[in-house]
Amino acid sequence: MSKPYKLSAFAGKIIAVDGPAGAGKSTTARLLAARLGYIYLDTGAMYRAVTLFALKNNILPEDGVALTETARKLTIEFRVEGNINKVYLNGADVTYLIRTPEVTKAVSAVSAHAGVREALVRLQREIGKKGNVVAEGRDTTSVVFPEADLKIYLDASIAERARRRVLDFARMNLPTTVEEQTKELTRRDALDSGRSASPLMRTGDAIVVDTTNLSIEEQVDRIIKLAKSRFIKL
Ligand code: DC
Repeated sequence: MSKPYKLSAFAGKIIAVDGPAGAGKSTTARLLAARLGYIYLDTGAMYRAVTLFALKNNILPEDGVALTETARKLTIEFRVEGNINKVYLNGADVTYLIRTPEVTKAVSAVSAHAGVREALVRLQREIGKKGNVVAEGRDTTSVVFPEADLKIYLDASIAERARRRVLDFARMNLPTTVEEQTKELTRRDALDSGRSASPLMRTGDAIVVDTTNLSIEEQVDRIIKLAKSRFIKL
C-alpha cells in the first residue's frame, strides 16, 4: 500500500531552477509552480523589464549608473491571469514586449551590471521570503537563494536548445534559423558564463536534469519526484 502524500512537507519551500538559455527553464518552472501551487518567480523577466525600459528611454546597455538607478526605481510585478504569468512594469503589461529580439539581444549586457543585480536580487529575496516559490534564473541557486530547499540545474545540448528557440520565435511570428540561434546561444552562453557579476554556473549541490530528450511533462515529473524524495521524510 502506498504511504499518504504529506502535503505539508511542501509548505514554505523554495525550489531554484538554473541553467543556460533554451534548456527549458521557464516552461518547466511555470508548470512546476502551477502543479505545486507555488509562485513562479521569473527572474529573467525582471532583467528583461529593466532592459525594455532602458531601450525605450534611450539608456545605453553599458550605462551601469543609469541602469542601477532605473532598477531601483521600477515597479515590477507578477500576476497570474488565466494560466499566464503576466509581467507588469510600472503598472503596464509588458509580458510580450520583454520577449522581442531587441530586448533579448541587449539583456545580457544590462544584467551584467552589479548595481542592477543588487537591486533585483533584493526584490527577488523579498518575494521569496514566505517560501512556496519556484525561482528560475541564472543565479537563483548560487546568489539569490543559496539556501534553497532544492536546486535544479537544467541543461540540454546546444542543438536542441537552438531548435527550441526557433519554435519559440515562430510562435511570435518571428522567423529565424537553427544556425542563427546556435550562434546567438553561443554568444549568450559566453557572455553569461564569463561575466564577473554572478556568472552562470552550476553549484555543487544542484541536481543536473538533462532535458535534451525529455518532454516538458517529463521534466516537471522528474523534478516533482526529486522534490518528494527530498522533502518527504518517510
Ligand atoms: O531566462 P531569460 O532568457 O529570460 O533571461 C534573460 C537574460 O537575463 C539572460 O541573458 C540572463 C539574464 N539573467 C540573469 O542574469 N540573472 C537571472 N537570475 C536571470 C536572467
